[in-house]
Amino acid sequence: MLELKGISTFYGNIQALHDISLKVEEGEIITLIGANGAGKSTTLMSISGIVPPRTGEILFKGKPIHELSPNKIVGLGLCQVPEGRHIFPDLTVAENLDMGAFLRKDKKQIEGDLEYIYDLFPILQKRRNQPGGNLSGGEQQMLAISRALMARPQLLLLDEPSMGLAPLVTRQIFDIIRK
Ligand SMILES: Nc1ncnc2c1ncn2[C@@H]1O[C@H](COP(=O)(O)OP(=O)(O)OP(=O)(O)O)[C@@H](O)[C@H]1O
Ligand SMILES: [Mg+2]
Repeated sequence: MLELKGISTFYGNIQALHDISLKVEEGEIITLIGANGAGKSTTLMSISGIVPPRTGEILFKGKPIHELSPNKIVGLGLCQVPEGRHIFPDLTVAENLDMGAFLRKDKKQIEGDLEYIYDLFPILQKRRNQPGGNLSGGEQQMLAISRALMARPQLLLLDEPSMGLAPLVTRQIFDIIRK
């Protein structure tokens, strides 16, 4: 489904990724493990087009995406949940979820997906009219994942989804990821 072929990514003159290749098949959960600064986030940023690779190829469902803009890549069904969540703190929970569906026009299905999300995370429904910034860290992670799900992704890129969360909340998040 996703294939990286020998990608190298730079920040200015600094090379962060050296010839990375990997494959993700449909239904698989693939984990990148490495020391701080190893390039895990940069790999995800390269896939989602935010820091595109300078050399190499990225194929999504057989089509090259390494020269597409991030919004085009989201439109193809590849969504990133960034490290540190980056929810919109001044928007309500419901508005944050709306933003996830920004590129979609299928109003009916968006409503259905919202119900699915509220089923998955009842706490988000309870807090739907509160600013996202008022949620706890674990709740913000749930919101960040849910916002990505609202784009109807076929592949989710999650950067450190358990960072700063209690073991119980971490287990809950990973149960949801498997689901
Ligand atoms: N915006 C940036 N500008 C310059 N260099 C950067 C930038 N972001 C990351 N780097 C460098 O790129 C390399 C890879 O960083 P990256 O954030 O991808 O690592 P990581 O594996 O996600 O680390 P962590 O476990 O700390 O999240 C590091 O050497 C880092 O200093
Ligand atoms: Mg990182």
